[in-house]
Amino acid sequence: MKVFVSGVAGFLGSHLAEANLHQGADVIGCDNLIGGELSNLPEGIEYETADCCDVVAMTRLMRGCDLVYHCAAIATEGLSVFSPALIAQHVYQNTAAMLAAAASNRVRRFVTCSSMARYGNGATPFTEEQAPRPVDPYGIAKVASEHLVRNIAETHGFEYAIAVPHNIIGPKQKYDDPYRNVASIMINRMLQGKQPIIYGDGGQKRCFSFVQDCVAPLLCMGSLDAAAGETINIGPDEEYVSILDLATTIAELLNFDLDPIFVADRPREVRYATCSADKARRLLGYHTTVSLRDGLQSIIDWIRLNGTRPFEYHLPIEIDSPLIPETWKNRMI
Ligand SMILES: NC(=O)c1ccc[n+]([C@@H]2O[C@H](COP(=O)([O-])OP(=O)(O)OC[C@H]3O[C@@H](n4cnc5c(N)ncnc54)[C@H](O)[C@@H]3O)[C@@H](O)[C@H]2O)c1
Repeated sequence: MKVFVSGVAGFLGSHLAEANLHQGADVIGCDNLIGGELSNLPEGIEYETADCCDVVAMTRLMRGCDLVYHCAAIATEGLSVFSPALIAQHVYQNTAAMLAAAASNRVRRFVTCSSMARYGNGATPFTEEQAPRPVDPYGIAKVASEHLVRNIAETHGFEYAIAVPHNIIGPKQKYDDPYRNVASIMINRMLQGKQPIIYGDGGQKRCFSFVQDCVAPLLCMGSLDAAAGETINIGPDEEYVSILDLATTIAELLNFDLDPIFVADRPREVRYATCSADKARRLLGYHTTVSLRDGLQSIIDWIRLNGTRPFEYHLPIEIDSPLIPETWKNRMI
C-alpha cells in the first residue's frame, strides 16, 4: 500500500507517516515548511518540499497512492481572526487542490483533519451530530473544507473520512510559535524561567490528546470500512482542564514557582471546548493510553533535549486592528 501524507514535516503528519511506515506501507509526503521542520521527517519516507495548493505537483506526487492523509494546514486559530486570507489559503484552498489530485489519481480513501473549531461555542461535550457553528475564520475554513471533501469524494467516487482532533500534544510539536500550541508555549517559557502568559482569567477549558492517542485512531480511519464517510471526534473526553490548571500542572512538573501573567481575552476564543469520544470508541475502539501529565512530561523532555527557543513571529498579520492581542503586537511571548 502507498500512503500520501501532506504536512509531513509537521507535528501530526510526521508521527502519522512514521506509524504508516511501521505498518509496512510505502509513504510519500510533502510540506511547504511554513510550520514544519525537515528534522521531523521520519527516515524511510519519500519527501518533496511542495505546497499543497499546487494541483500539478500534488497530482504528480500522489501517483499510485491508495490512501491520503491531509494534515497540511496553518492551524493558528487565534491568528485567523486577523489573517483570514492566509488561513483560507492554507486550510481551504490547499484542501481543494489535494482533492483534485486525489480524484485524478483515483485514490481509495482521503482522510482529512478537521478541528474542534468546527463546533464553536456549541454545547459541550461536542458530538458529531451537532450542527457545526464555527466562530472564527479557521473553524469556517475547516467546515468549508469538510463540505468540499464530501462533495468531491462523492462526485468522483472515492471514500473519505473526517477526523476532528482535540488539542494534540507531544514531541515534535512546534514550541516556538507564538500563535498556537498553548502547552508547548508555556513549557518553552517556563524552561527559560519566564512566567506563562494567560489570556483572560484562564478559565477556558480544553481536553488534550497525546499524539499517539491521535495517530492510532487515524490509522483506523484510513483502513476500517466502518470509518468510511464518517466524521469522528478524535481524543479523550477525560481530563477536561482549565488553562490555569494546565499552567499549574506544568509548573508542578517543572518545580516552577508559578505567578502567571494575565492579559486581555483574545477575540472569539471559545470558552468551553471538549468533545465526546463515544463515536471513536464505538467505531475505532478508541481509548486513551497517555495521561495529560505524562504527555506534558514528554514535551518537557523533548524541549530539554532540543533546547529552548526564542519565539518566531513567522506569519503575517493581515488586519491592522486594535483587537490584536498585545502579546503579538508587542512580541511579549
Ligand atoms: N495539533 C493540534 O492540536 C490540532 C488539533 C486539531 C486539528 N489539527 C489539525 O491537524 C493537522 C495537523 O496539525 P499539526 O498540529 O500537525 O500542525 P503543524 O503545523 O505541526 O503541521 C502542519 C504542516 O503543514 C505544513 N503546511 C501548511 N500549509 C501547507 C501547504 N499549503 N502546503 C504544504 N504544507 C503546508 C506546515 O509546514 C506544517 O509542517 C492540521 O490540519 C490541523 O488543523 C491539529
